[in-house]
Amino acid sequence: MNLAATVADKAGKAWHQASTQLDQQRQQFAQDVVAGLSARQKTLPCKYLYDEAGSKLFEAICELDDYYLTRTEGQIFEYRLPEIAQALGPEVVLLEPGAGNCEKAEPLLAAMSEPVAYYPLDISPEILLAAQRRIQGQLPQLEVVPVIGDFTDPAAWDSLPKSHYRKVLFFPGSTIGNFTPEKARELLCQFSAQLSSGDGLLIGADLVKDSVVLERAYHDSNHVTEAFNKNLLHRINSELQGNFDIDAFAHRAFYHSLRQRVEMHLVSLAAQSVEVAGTQFHFTEGETIHTENSHKYTLPGLQALLQETGFNTKQYWTDNNHHYAIFYAEVP
Ligand code: TRP
Repeated sequence: MNLAATVADKAGKAWHQASTQLDQQRQQFAQDVVAGLSARQKTLPCKYLYDEAGSKLFEAICELDDYYLTRTEGQIFEYRLPEIAQALGPEVVLLEPGAGNCEKAEPLLAAMSEPVAYYPLDISPEILLAAQRRIQGQLPQLEVVPVIGDFTDPAAWDSLPKSHYRKVLFFPGSTIGNFTPEKARELLCQFSAQLSSGDGLLIGADLVKDSVVLERAYHDSNHVTEAFNKNLLHRINSELQGNFDIDAFAHRAFYHSLRQRVEMHLVSLAAQSVEVAGTQFHFTEGETIHTENSHKYTLPGLQALLQETGFNTKQYWTDNNHHYAIFYAEVP
């Protein structure tokens, strides 16, 4: 075979592989949506909130006055960075599941003493590669290896480079709150299983507080969270031949104090039928699709959760209002 043919053949194979992967992803999406909408309490898995449009909307949420989480976590990092970097120790490999644009890791790495490497793990290759170039430019000594994968999938962790240095897992943004207590426990056990004695976890979590403050964060006056929530319906319409009338649904977010979580729903404003991927779903007026949870922790609650999942809390930091906490814990 001549060279041109080999190249064409390879390109064809790569294209085929990529398109099969896309088909599989779409099939999985369809399966999850149909299963979710068939349940008694209709639900949609929150990970589908983050396509490209969703990720942009989420970045806009982080800039909102009402959304105190990102700002408060940022302030704690800003004021406590030297202490946090010292707690982590020297010559560490920093791993970040769900790294996104890696904006939080960059100042942390810059403050750490001789960090060895940074391995961000995320589903979006474009954002990761841009972040790699940026961080590599700022910290030329550091080894930066982005890994593409879903951090809830144990197989994705196998693609991370191996290293004999101490590891610290970085999990900011109160992402832990988007897992039910049961799933959070599973995830943290999966984390500690990746680590050895003396390795660490630096984790951010939103704290239990006044429900008005909480609800405003998820039902902002600029309606960005509403757009973020409804983006799921747009995605279903365009990717799964859905016919959701988006205006016939309203965004609702409320704090459930017993469950210690903010729940996000989409409320059907009328009795209506919707078709998705060839299947019909009926909604009564007022029926909801549960799209997201954001669990809130108390300081002892988070410490206990860490303890149960194989971590000893070493230190934690909060803001003056006790709205948010960053914990550093180690595997004994
Ligand atoms: N983990 C953050 C939180 O719970 C970010 C987040 C996830 C979020 N899903 C969201 C924020 C949906 C607003 C709406 O707040």
